Amino acid sequence: MKVLGISCGRRMGNTEIMVKEALMGAEEAGAEVQFLRLQDYYIKPCTGCNSCAIDIMEKGGGGACSLKNDDFPFIDDLVMDCDGLVLGSPIYEKSPTGLFKTLEDRMGPSHDQGFRIVAQKIREEKGITTGTGPDPRAFKPRAASLIAVGGSEWDTLALPIMGMFCLTMQMTVVDQILINWIGLPKVVTFHDDKLARVHRSGKHVAESLKKGVENAEYIGEPGMCPLCHCKLIEVRHGNDPYPCICALCGVRGTLTTDADGQVRFTVSDEDRPHSHLLLSGKFEHLQELADVSLKPPANYGEANARSQKYRDYLTPLMPPAREKGKKAEAGEEL
Ligand SMILES: Cc1cc2nc3c(=O)[nH]c(=O)nc-3n(C[C@H](O)[C@H](O)[C@H](O)COP(=O)(O)O)c2cc1C
Repeated sequence: MKVLGISCGRRMGNTEIMVKEALMGAEEAGAEVQFLRLQDYYIKPCTGCNSCAIDIMEKGGGGACSLKNDDFPFIDDLVMDCDGLVLGSPIYEKSPTGLFKTLEDRMGPSHDQGFRIVAQKIREEKGITTGTGPDPRAFKPRAASLIAVGGSEWDTLALPIMGMFCLTMQMTVVDQILINWIGLPKVVTFHDDKLARVHRSGKHVAESLKKGVENAEYIGEPGMCPLCHCKLIEVRHGNDPYPCICALCGVRGTLTTDADGQVRFTVSDEDRPHSHLLLSGKFEHLQELADVSLKPPANYGEANARSQKYRDYLTPLMPPAREKGKKAEAGEEL
């Protein structure tokens, strides 16, 4: 039982301390623990080339990334190998850090369990034996704890964006914690209650794995969404029969206020299967992609001609110290 801790914060910062405290809890419950600091790694941002999705959908492949020469494969292997995850990020601009988002994007469609199941099916149906199929470790039941650490209460987007990392890979979030008002370096070591809370979280990840993730109890704040516990509900078009959706799992629901002023988000049995947290909702999304956004219009051959005026319009400004077309590499000095 391996539990991996990822800190997206500073070296020995508050997030690192919290993740390590959670790992101590996991170790206490019998887990083998590993830790990495995302800032030690160089991860290139996704360029949107879609080669991972094409590899999966057309070749039943493993969704290999076209980007090379960075540390992503090393982290990917660790994430695939772990059974449990403790993911900690400082809150920057109400969200997890940009570096975390870079990792999340790299683990997007290529690591989506819905996509991977489809790839497996394509492989079997077409009898493809060449190349690599989806990583079999991706189908293990896994448990995760999310910890967001901020200097104030400007925190609304942090846990939902971190939750997306687990939603994609079908990892069960058994706990999520917002640690607020932690601004100064290492100041979290003065908060025994917060340290105890994350220790319990890491222990709970390991205990959930021992019990079987399907029986795991969620011990975080209940939130609003009855499926993914997200607190963020988006209010959409006023005349839509379902104007409210969960910002993380996308399930539709109804917002009501009780006589005592308590706001509730209710999801009907009919709407539950459409949640992106469930494989049923993911398969539906894949079908929508095939039927709508990836379906070329009949005259798609005109795409280049139609876009020519935009190609000709304005020359992009280039960074001053580099040659035309050359991109910055990690650590490069201007
Ligand atoms: C660029 C930047 C943006 C920040 N934005 C927020 C914010 O929106 N909300 C918040 O609560 N704290 C914010 N903070 C404070 C950090 O989240 C806080 O200091 C945290 O303890 C840093 O974690 P670390 O010690 O692990 O690096 C920000 C800090 C930085 C550097």
